[in-house]
Amino acid sequence: MTAPRKIIIDTDPGQDDAVAILLALASPDELDVLGLVAVAGNVPLALTEANARKVCEVAGRPDVKVFAGCDRPIAQPLLTAEHVHGATGLDGIDLPAPTMPLQAQHGVDFIIDTLRAEPPGTVTLCTLGALTNVATAFARAPDVVGRVAELVMMGGAYFEVGNITPAAEFNIYVDPEAAAAVFASGVKITVASLDVSHKALTSRDWVAGMRALGTRVGEVVAAWTDFFERFDTAKYGSEGAPLHDPLVIAWLLRPDLFTGRQVNVEIELEGRFTRGMTVADWWGVSGRAANAFWLGGLDRDGFYALLSERLARL
Ligand code: RIB
Ligand code: CA
Repeated sequence: MTAPRKIIIDTDPGQDDAVAILLALASPDELDVLGLVAVAGNVPLALTEANARKVCEVAGRPDVKVFAGCDRPIAQPLLTAEHVHGATGLDGIDLPAPTMPLQAQHGVDFIIDTLRAEPPGTVTLCTLGALTNVATAFARAPDVVGRVAELVMMGGAYFEVGNITPAAEFNIYVDPEAAAAVFASGVKITVASLDVSHKALTSRDWVAGMRALGTRVGEVVAAWTDFFERFDTAKYGSEGAPLHDPLVIAWLLRPDLFTGRQVNVEIELEGRFTRGMTVADWWGVSGRAANAFWLGGLDRDGFYALLSERLARL
């Protein structure tokens, strides 16, 4: 039995973030969650940090360390997504205010200190929102970049185009400067973009299966899914909604569920209509060095079977 992989989850809950956190906490044999770091994104930081604590309490894990990170992007005002996630960011079911503590340390300092304290190459960063915290940590402490085992992120889009603009995916668009810095940092990156998350659509049967668990987690996940599905099914005309962020955790647990390609990814910063676009050189025509493993294929049914099996444990 190998030791669990140490991970830090950087997150902007967000119902799909919440499911990703539950999936990680349901997998202690494989994943050691060193901490959650909230970032401003889907909703402001005051809500994302509280939501992260609410999720831990839903999972029965008030021991998890939750930190507040950056409350705004590096170089532009904060853009939020209440239209998708609701005013609280976790609409769909009313959860009690969290009673577990928020850590006093700033989330960026937690990332830096943890990377310095743990042996090099043993901590994986999992980002589910804008890359503001990670980019800020790398800028403040360049020595930690080489200590990161790998960064697995939800963000970007290429074949699936954008979801917040015609060209850009939300996590990148919230803080393009942060994304550009991270992709230029040299850290080992795996990207779960809309290209793969749009293959991970929920279904009525799966949501019914969550409710049939008869557990608090099943009830809450079904309620969150019912809520955030309404926006995407209306927008895309699909039966279900893409469950984006849990794919980051699923990659760590079952990489065999995915296919992908090592490519060059650049972040557009100047384009009048394309700012925040992830320009993925899928066919290698640019001559630029590959800097990311871009996930493309997904065994959708295998993913949902994994998710159901793990969430049933909580
Ligand atoms: O574009 C989807 C991403 O934006 C997901 O991480 C969702 O939670 C939002 O943050
Ligand atoms: Ca997110």
